[in-house]
Amino acid sequence: MTKKPQPKKQDQDIPTTGHSWDGIEEYDNPMPRWWLWTFYMTIIWGIGYTIAYPAWPLISEATPGLLGYSTRAEVAEEIQRFEDANEGIQTRLASTELSELPNDPELLAYAQNAGGAVFRTWCAQCHGSGAAGAKGYPNLLDDAWLWGGTMEDIYLTVSHGIRNEDDPDARWSEMPAFGELLSEEEIAQVVNHVLSISGQDADAELASAGATVFEEQCSACHGEDGKGDRFQGAPNLTDAIWLYGGDAETLTETVTNSRFGVMPSWTTRLSEADIRAVSAYVHQLGGGEAPEVAEEETAN
Ligand code: HEC
Ligand code: HEC
Repeated sequence: MTKKPQPKKQDQDIPTTGHSWDGIEEYDNPMPRWWLWTFYMTIIWGIGYTIAYPAWPLISEATPGLLGYSTRAEVAEEIQRFEDANEGIQTRLASTELSELPNDPELLAYAQNAGGAVFRTWCAQCHGSGAAGAKGYPNLLDDAWLWGGTMEDIYLTVSHGIRNEDDPDARWSEMPAFGELLSEEEIAQVVNHVLSISGQDADAELASAGATVFEEQCSACHGEDGKGDRFQGAPNLTDAIWLYGGDAETLTETVTNSRFGVMPSWTTRLSEADIRAVSAYVHQLGGGEAPEVAEEETAN
């Protein structure tokens, strides 16, 4: 017979919790002191933290904490720091003649950079993050301009917007809905004329009758040659660049019901420096024009 091993004497003195599993008992040793103190410290620290910092959720906000710390204030401070750092150059941008901007490379580079950020925040949802536009929203990368592509033209467009009711200086023009003015046949004729001047297949007979309709009804805005008129934001119809579309069906729809592209005014939402910055940014995207070119070539 093997003897059951006796517990060592020293072990017998230690109290147990009274739990026993298959003869294995659990000692009731006190927690190590260092552990206990760390534990108490974390509790005290936790309570202290909730007093010092925003912590307990209330109905509409949390307890603010004695230190008055908030992440929102920290972000605002950081933004303020950047604004203070840029204040000098922002003031310079707001007070420099736009035509002088190209002569100040440092300021121009700043404007184009800052303008990119403005564009991605305020303009990209309509014009696309790469500014390539979409149906009804012009591509700002090419050199086909509805209202003009000099820095000043772009600045004016951005400042006041297009066909919006909020800004009395908004660019304005309105193509009539010819569904009420012309017969379906005349519309088919003029659509074929537009197909033909934009280099697409057209019914020759309809197109030649359409030339007369165009002359009478459309040339006042789009020009005798169909090359458009920037004073009225009337697009060039010969360049195969379309705002709404150049196929027969879309053209019929445009002529019958007309279009009314609206762009908001930005004077109330952006600072003068930001409007100049985003104008400089759009100007350098690819189609920006120098002031002289625009004067020679108003219709494009
Ligand atoms: C809500 C949509 C919308 C937003 C936002 C918007 N645009 Fe436009 N933008 C338009 C539309 C629509 C047109 C074309 C209007 C027309 O048919 O003449 C336009 C036209 C323009 C033009 C004229 C292009 C040309 O060919 O002459 C410029 C320049 C322009 N936008 C720049 C901007 C900039 C810069 C911003 C940001 C500050 C901006 N847009 C924000 C809708 C918008
Ligand atoms: C009062 C001036 C005016 C007259 C008259 C006019 N248009 Fe327009 N047309 C415009 C304007 C402005 C736009 C741009 C509308 C916009 O951007 O929302 C336009 C846009 C268009 C477009 C869209 C082009 C594109 O790129 O998608 C076509 C096509 C067009 N017109 C054809 C005609 C034809 C055909 C006639 C004659 C039957 C005509 N227009 C008469 C001012 C005019």
